[in-house]
Amino acid sequence: MSKPRILVARAIFPDIVDRLREHFDVEANPDDVIWTPAELAARLADKDGVLTTGSQRIDAALLAAAPRLKICANMAVGYNNFDVDAMTAAGVQGTNTPDVLTETTADFGFALLMATARRMAESEHFLRAGQWTKWSYDMFAGSDIHGSTLGIIGMGRIGQGIAKRGAHGFGMKVIYHNRSRLSTALEAECKATYVGKDELLRTADHVMLVVPYTAASHHTIGAAELGLMKPTATLINIARGGIVDDAALAVALRERRIAAAGLDVFEGEPSVHPDLLTVPNVVLTPHIASATVPTRRAMANLAADNLIAFFGGRGPLTPVNQPQAGLLR
Ligand code: GLV
Repeated sequence: MSKPRILVARAIFPDIVDRLREHFDVEANPDDVIWTPAELAARLADKDGVLTTGSQRIDAALLAAAPRLKICANMAVGYNNFDVDAMTAAGVQGTNTPDVLTETTADFGFALLMATARRMAESEHFLRAGQWTKWSYDMFAGSDIHGSTLGIIGMGRIGQGIAKRGAHGFGMKVIYHNRSRLSTALEAECKATYVGKDELLRTADHVMLVVPYTAASHHTIGAAELGLMKPTATLINIARGGIVDDAALAVALRERRIAAAGLDVFEGEPSVHPDLLTVPNVVLTPHIASATVPTRRAMANLAADNLIAFFGGRGPLTPVNQPQAGLLR
């Protein structure tokens, strides 16, 4: 019997592609070419499955052009690149990579918070530019992390990891806002108190965004929300581009309506709003919150395991939708 045909849409660890080759007829992309939607559709025309990253859009038009496609295994916990309704309607399984990146991403959220509040990028640029000729009492004086109030919007697994780091490691007061409240036991574990979004924005010294991107979370933070924040506050986005109105944020940073921001994700990335590149009080990183070698390997392996389990008839390990059994392609 011939093996199912799989496309690995972006370059991933070569040994994990080799593992996939033990089960599948694999077309890989070792040169990491960024295909247009039409090129992706052409490559998927004869494929049974695909390993995607967050940068391939899977929608009704692509599914129509890929009649054999049965599963899209995303190497990311977020899957806003999937039109899940279209996939379910077409009988196509989607999977993601939750859990394996939680602690690494929470570490990075905290690193970005520290770098932003303590002005590490700004001060490093100053030093590299040869501008450090003398010390002064207020040179790059930022805001404290320890003992301050951390407001987390989006209290899923990563949000909870950040809450624990803040509360237990840095003695922060943690407040959070989420679609639903955590159980009393989880709130106690995270030492976190539920508040409304406006109250969080008004009282937090540091606001951390960890919500998934959906139509409802588009521009969760825009000019009005930035206007509620303290002028001394920092804003950290490790969630998705589009959750923050980047143009409004650049204005707020330039006018010092908030103190600083740390951004790992951007609207329209890898393009970055040009105004964000010219304001000094922002730390910018290229969507690397889960980027440690062990975690990226675990994500790629979990995406591969989803494909192997699905075609082995054992069902996906971490599904994001449930096409009806009779409807599955
Ligand atoms: C990264 O952004 C992910 O969703 O895993």
